[in-house]
Amino acid sequence: MDGYTDAWERADAGERRKSGIFIESVVIREIRGFIEIMKIADIVGARPQFIKVAPVLRAIQRHNETHPENPIQEVLVHTGQHYDYEMSGVFFDDLGLKPPDYHLGVGSGTHGYQTGEMLKRIEEVLLAEKPDVVMVYGDTNSTLAGALAAAKLRIPVAHVEAGLRSFNKRMAEEINRVLTDHISDLLFCPTQTAVENLRREGITQGVYLVGDVMYDAALQYLALAEQKSRILERLGLKPKDYALATVHRAENADDPQRLRAIFAGLEAIAQTGLPVILPLHPRTCKQAESLGLSLNGVRVLEPVSYLDMLLLEKNARVILTDSGGVQKEAFFFRVPCVTLREETEWVETVETGWNVLVGCDRERILGAALAAQSGVESAWPYGDGKAGEKITRVLEGWEGE
Ligand code: UD1
Ligand code: UDP
Repeated sequence: MDGYTDAWERADAGERRKSGIFIESVVIREIRGFIEIMKIADIVGARPQFIKVAPVLRAIQRHNETHPENPIQEVLVHTGQHYDYEMSGVFFDDLGLKPPDYHLGVGSGTHGYQTGEMLKRIEEVLLAEKPDVVMVYGDTNSTLAGALAAAKLRIPVAHVEAGLRSFNKRMAEEINRVLTDHISDLLFCPTQTAVENLRREGITQGVYLVGDVMYDAALQYLALAEQKSRILERLGLKPKDYALATVHRAENADDPQRLRAIFAGLEAIAQTGLPVILPLHPRTCKQAESLGLSLNGVRVLEPVSYLDMLLLEKNARVILTDSGGVQKEAFFFRVPCVTLREETEWVETVETGWNVLVGCDRERILGAALAAQSGVESAWPYGDGKAGEKITRVLEGWEGE
């Protein structure tokens, strides 16, 4: 008789559901398969993932408050991909996240080293915790490692932000997305475009259009940001009188020619008299230092907190970025965006005229920033701000394969 059956046999029939919720956690695990307590493991590790997991954790907490008879247990696993306080801890503080149940401390390295170490360490956690579902977020190495570790253990995988495609396989993120989607059992799509991308690849089972969790987060935290953040005063900025920029994509940061051209574009904007604020990712900072690149007139900051970033974005005249999340947040706040890439996964931002793709050409960057204007108001592609709740409802009713 295995542990589950044994525990089930020992439990009094009338008390099974009730007792399972309150008894000591090791016993909950033994009998949860029978009393339908769903246990999920959330795998996160990079800055945008702390933001993406927050609305899901919040929705699960609400679910547990309103459905105490049918709780969802969750285990938060931090791979350690990002580790500086400005890249990790500050998000736990800003978003009010509980500390991770497991911190795997993997840190930086080559793709093979980083993904491999994550795979080993996540597997150990999954073997110990035996979750019913592993949730992964976005497209980083932490996403792929979490999905792969779970799939090999035959634990169902749920991918939040499934179906995104840049159609550029030279991006590590595109590899991570495609592989993760193809081993996922539940695919939570932010947009209709994402659903269609999956369909074209033959993935139609387990696909749910839930909206964008980053939109949930922006809606949930903007009021807090407005109440708590003093970033505009601290930097002496006037609303709609500065440009905000971020640069971190490996294709830009690790290519000296591209990085030089992007920095030249930002310098040129600053020379027109429009202040340029650049909270700089550590990857880009290290590259710029090693190349001895200048950024005359540009105000370079350490990475800022999420609450500060929301306010900086909302009040910017124009945003220049190669970040996926920042492109969307510009759209959420109706701020024109200039994307320092040749393609984007977030095609709706471009189709509606709020975002232009300029790559890394100095003149195009300058021209687009100066010409930046509002796009059209159109159907809202990113959901209703309740993606976290929708994901929770699917998990709650999901019977597995
Ligand atoms: C990763 C993701 C990228 C995502 C980004 C979000 C992959 C392949 N890339 O890119 O999709 O958009 O996170 O920010 O997963 N570093 C520090 N301190 C930190 C973290 C990183 O100094 O806390 C430096 C290290 O030198 C490291 C470099 O940044 O080698 C790159 O970090 P890494 O996590 O490998 O990739 P990101 O560029 O952050
Ligand atoms: N962000 C932040 N501080 C910064 C830069 C970005 O809080 O200094 C937030 C931003 O608001 C967005 C997320 O980080 O929510 C985007 O992460 P990033 O650009 O690192 O990754 P990507 O979205 O490209 O994967």
